[in-house]
Amino acid sequence: MKSQASSSTELEKSEGNSRSLDQALRPAQWEQYVGQGPIKENLRILLTAAKGRKHQPEHVLLYGPPGLGKTTLAHLIAREIGANLRTTSGPAIERVGDLASILTNLSPGDVLFVDEVHRLNKTIEEVLYPAMEAGMLDIVIGKGPSARTVQLELPAFTLVAATTRISMLSAPLRSRFSGGTFRLQYYTVDEIAEIIRRSAKILDIEVDTESLMEIARRSRATPRTANYLLKRARDFADVSGTSLDIKTVKKALALLEIDEAGLNQTDRDLLTVIVEKFGGGPVGLKTIAASLSEEDATVEEVNEPYLMQLGLLERTPRGRVVTKKGFEHIGELPPTEKQSKLL
Ligand SMILES: Nc1ncnc2c1ncn2[C@@H]1O[C@H](COP(=O)(O)OP(=O)(O)OP(=O)(O)O)[C@@H](O)[C@H]1O
Ligand SMILES: [Mg+2]
Repeated sequence: MKSQASSSTELEKSEGNSRSLDQALRPAQWEQYVGQGPIKENLRILLTAAKGRKHQPEHVLLYGPPGLGKTTLAHLIAREIGANLRTTSGPAIERVGDLASILTNLSPGDVLFVDEVHRLNKTIEEVLYPAMEAGMLDIVIGKGPSARTVQLELPAFTLVAATTRISMLSAPLRSRFSGGTFRLQYYTVDEIAEIIRRSAKILDIEVDTESLMEIARRSRATPRTANYLLKRARDFADVSGTSLDIKTVKKALALLEIDEAGLNQTDRDLLTVIVEKFGGGPVGLKTIAASLSEEDATVEEVNEPYLMQLGLLERTPRGRVVTKKGFEHIGELPPTEKQSKLL
């Protein structure tokens, strides 16, 4: 009852609106999916060849930092082969029975999208192996000495799995993505600018090139962030009664504490903690996360990849190290220069 009673609150309405805004911005066709050229080309070949042979395309694994377009690609794959996309996620599949029910309810040709696949537990992974390899589901009926295994033949399906943490996937699971494992790359500023231009058109936002490029440079090379910043900058302009010009964009981004390089406060705190508390590193992930009061996973999946992309941070076998560029970014002198200044 509670959910019914609260279903029409303003907040939920606005959440619904922002979800549908996100839907509207998600590319529905390959031509609208900017960048990731090599992945698109590999997928085009995989899907076209399978279609030509009238075969089900093989399973595909997509990985990379959040917001780079993995879920969007899963939708495009299903669309390309004219299949239904069935969506679930690692944490949603708690029991073997959950997976069995998902698999047996697939229709022939479906694409099954499993998000956060690194969070599948081992027992479930083991049920998935024969399903991926041979289209068979082995289920154990009964318990103890009278238990027996029944094999069910599954409808042909393509598994598209996504993860932000490839290193957490077991080797046997990884090896079963026979269609390919693809790492999504960060986008160039021009690609992000193209995405913002398209989003601005869809959302009916007027934005000049200079302002658009400013948002693009500060979007951490990530489409989701680009769309988010565009929307926040538009809000800022609306509320201040100005147009979306460069001055307004800069003010909006300053209020969001996003700097010239696209770093947010946590990114900067991460560099500062390593520099001030640990002399620039090396220092372990857990120590950094604890100092920032953040989850290890967030630091590892969200903050570090972008800092490494910019060359501000390095991961070494002994821990994380802030680079010379990293020191400079937070206005500190790198250790060697500090020494020579002292001499
Ligand atoms: N290549 C692209 N071209 C245009 N827009 C894109 C592209 N990739 C992503 N987007 C936009 O960014 C949003 C986020 O992308 P998506 O949800 O696919 O990311 P994700 O990799 O699945 O993230 P997560 O790991 O958090 O699930 C999409 O809704 C879409 O609007
Ligand atoms: Mg996703």
